Amino acid sequence: MLYQKSVRSLWALFACLFLITLSAQAQDAKLPHVVILATGGTIAGTGATSTTTVGYTAAKVGVESLIKAVPELSNVANVTGEQVFQIASESMTNEHWLALAKRVNTLLAQADVDGIVITHGTDTLEETAYFLDLVVKSNKPVVLVGSMRPSTAISADGPINLYNAVALAGSKEAVGKGVLVALNDQINAAREVTKTNTVSTDTFKTTELGFLGYMLDGKPRFYRASLRKHTAETEFDVSGLNALPAVDVAYSYANVGTAAVDAFVAQGDVGIVHAGTGDGSLPARTKPALVAARKKGVIIVRSSRVGQGIVARNGEANDDELDFVVSDTLSPQKARILLMLALTRTHDTKEIQRMFYTY
Ligand code: DGL
Repeated sequence: MLYQKSVRSLWALFACLFLITLSAQAQDAKLPHVVILATGGTIAGTGATSTTTVGYTAAKVGVESLIKAVPELSNVANVTGEQVFQIASESMTNEHWLALAKRVNTLLAQADVDGIVITHGTDTLEETAYFLDLVVKSNKPVVLVGSMRPSTAISADGPINLYNAVALAGSKEAVGKGVLVALNDQINAAREVTKTNTVSTDTFKTTELGFLGYMLDGKPRFYRASLRKHTAETEFDVSGLNALPAVDVAYSYANVGTAAVDAFVAQGDVGIVHAGTGDGSLPARTKPALVAARKKGVIIVRSSRVGQGIVARNGEANDDELDFVVSDTLSPQKARILLMLALTRTHDTKEIQRMFYTY
């Protein structure tokens, strides 16, 4: 009698354990699968003391440690991580971008991947975000995240930023919104967001056109969307590329000469973005060098160092006559990205100008 009772209670125990496992799996099955691709930066940085917020070392902590440091991630997604590189983002290169884009597109083509988070240094985060905005071939969410304080600092912003980024990447609301940048409880679009402060945690802003929405209690709240083409609608394809066309930015300022433009032409650049003063103005000394470069077949894009506003055709220069392209509202560093990708498809300046009005 006693034996039968103990067997029955053992079976009951096994059954409970089985049901708990099932419900846990069932709960997991309900959560989106978000892949975290780690590239380095301050979010993976460590400082000598908990009050070190500037003199720290970026790109030290691995992706598994980043995930372990935020156990709450498992409440919003099934998270898996990959360490794609481990660098401070000022050292990001075109080759890093191509490798990252190919990995992102491979993962997003998998039915069991619902979204991607990319942890990244903040220095070039806006550039990587825009590059991916132009080459990701999916509507699934891709969210870039970083931090301004290292993981070892008091009130480090990395953990909450990572939690919000994963929640956003797993959300239905983020589908089709293009590549997003999520730090400091705000959701920004890749095309316009820029780093506006060297050290503050609210550094990422879309100053005039405004960010897209907020993250509140781990839930996205969108108030606007980008009107420009991106991701699934892109005409650019980097799947077969191992390099990108050589394009550099020539910065303008009082007393500037032609050294930068001449050097870019001499090294074989096929495109030059001129980061002009004001509305993309061309200094008397620099303009002839740019005209000569154009005559050699180099594509010239007139942009502005100012940071906001439209650089319009035939405003500060006769672009029709010079056969130059204008950057519209793109910053010089983002105009470089679009020009590189445009040059993988055409050298026709009318077609390239169309692309600057499309993306
Ligand atoms: N070295 C900078 C970078 O990796 C640190 C800045 C940061 O990640 O916040 O972009």
